[in-house]
Amino acid sequence: MRQLFAACLLMLPAGVLLAQGSPGKPGAGVYAAHCVACHQPEGLGAPGVAPPLAGNVGRHAATPEGRNYLARVPLTGMVGTITVDGVRYIGNNMPSFSVLSDADIASVVGHVLRDFNGIADISWLTPEFVASVRQTGGTPNETHKQRGRLAAASGG
Ligand code: HEC
Repeated sequence: MRQLFAACLLMLPAGVLLAQGSPGKPGAGVYAAHCVACHQPEGLGAPGVAPPLAGNVGRHAATPEGRNYLARVPLTGMVGTITVDGVRYIGNNMPSFSVLSDADIASVVGHVLRDFNGIADISWLTPEFVASVRQTGGTPNETHKQRGRLAAASGG
């Protein structure tokens, strides 16, 4: 019995490591490599650095224009000031990650939506969807304008 208990204790760290790997949370690795420095662990953001993604961008998953925006931000990057929860994010820009593959962008945005915003249905967020948004091009400034249209449409 005591041996079994000891064996369970030994297995615990391995289980924790597995949970952090990609099987449970696809996109977490891409997030850790490319996004966490600015958007912080759990997507909480930091005033003066980058806006929170948690509890913020999930609302865009409900509309076609919002979904387009979610794929476009990492593709083009974004410039200009935005306000989230009354905090203005001024001065810093969102870099373009167009060097990442369609699959990596789909999985990291999926991670943001599912694990930071509790969005259950991300079946629309495929590499093909990202590819279709990529094809339409766009600039960091146009993406900022697109966010403005979305904010106006949702009253915020
Ligand atoms: C160098 C810092 C930096 C990095 C790295 C970064 N971001 Fe950003 N991100 C920002 C800033 C700053 C903004 C706000 C831009 C603005 O004010 O126009 C932003 C905005 C966003 C938004 C829009 C938020 C909103 O409220 O509409 C999303 C989505 C986003 N980032 C996702 C990501 C993802 C995914 C990654 C990793 C692939 C990433 N960011 C990496 C700085 C960063």
